[in-house]
Amino acid sequence: MRLTGISDTYVLNNGVEIPCVAFGTYKAAEGDNVEILKRAIACGYRYFDTASFYGTETYLGQAVKASGIPREEFFITTKMWKDEMGYEAAKEAFAKSLERLGTDYLDLYLIHWPQPSPDCREWRTIDAETWRALEELYEAGKVRAIGLSNFLPHHVENLLKNCRVRPMVNQIEFHPGHTQETVVAYCKERGILVQAWSPIGRGRVLEDELIVELAAKYSVSPAQVCLRYALQRGVVPLPKSSSEERMRQNQDLFSFELTEEDMYRIGAMPPAGWSGEHPERERVRVKR
Ligand code: A2P
Repeated sequence: MRLTGISDTYVLNNGVEIPCVAFGTYKAAEGDNVEILKRAIACGYRYFDTASFYGTETYLGQAVKASGIPREEFFITTKMWKDEMGYEAAKEAFAKSLERLGTDYLDLYLIHWPQPSPDCREWRTIDAETWRALEELYEAGKVRAIGLSNFLPHHVENLLKNCRVRPMVNQIEFHPGHTQETVVAYCKERGILVQAWSPIGRGRVLEDELIVELAAKYSVSPAQVCLRYALQRGVVPLPKSSSEERMRQNQDLFSFELTEEDMYRIGAMPPAGWSGEHPERERVRVKR
């Protein structure tokens, strides 16, 4: 499929359309939070990704309301945090998120992490119970699509064994130097759309020699190379930025195309820019 702009859509496995580029709101809470989100709306972003953990739901709700643009023109995703998992807790978390966002439905609701902690032995039951709550919210029409975040194939398998509703997306860390090919291939084979958090590797990948070389070759920025790479892999990037110039730059991804050779080179570059986060390990503190 040829994408021409950030409002072009993919169709999820339940028929719902989802824009091909989102605006990430993690850390938009630092500083002039609502202003950043208003700026992003003014720049044309309509798909916003938040989470109860980010502390940005309220600001996003305020920015959407202030825009005067009808709610249906936005695509809003949020996620429940690790301490909100379980059947009852998930339903409560959902209600609280709706309240903070000032909306009566969500476009997409995700389980943020598959395990409340790396050493949690009961994750199979906890995930299944949490998913049952999401299925009910979906069947009641309170959310248009439901999915996962940071789930590895064995976590997804556990849900697929007993679910009534199949997950529609899995949002993972994905950028040049950390593309989690096992997860991507697994999801693609099962019709689960992959989304990329930290699509530019929190800036750490932008100085990589290959990314810099390709940016010069295509006369774009290193960030645009990373975002275009995700698009060409059929992965939805969730870039975030506080600056209007970079917000606009991060939408300007449709006037160039990486060659097959360059796609392979990026896919095979040395590991770079991993956040240090893995659901089954204690967080690794990595230097920038
Ligand atoms: P800023 O808000 O100053 O633009 P990631 O999404 O991979 O975690 O990276 C987010 C970081 O990347 C943000 O700190 C943001 O900083 C920066 N960033 C976003 N877009 C660009 C860009 N086009 N060029 C350089 N840095 C960017």
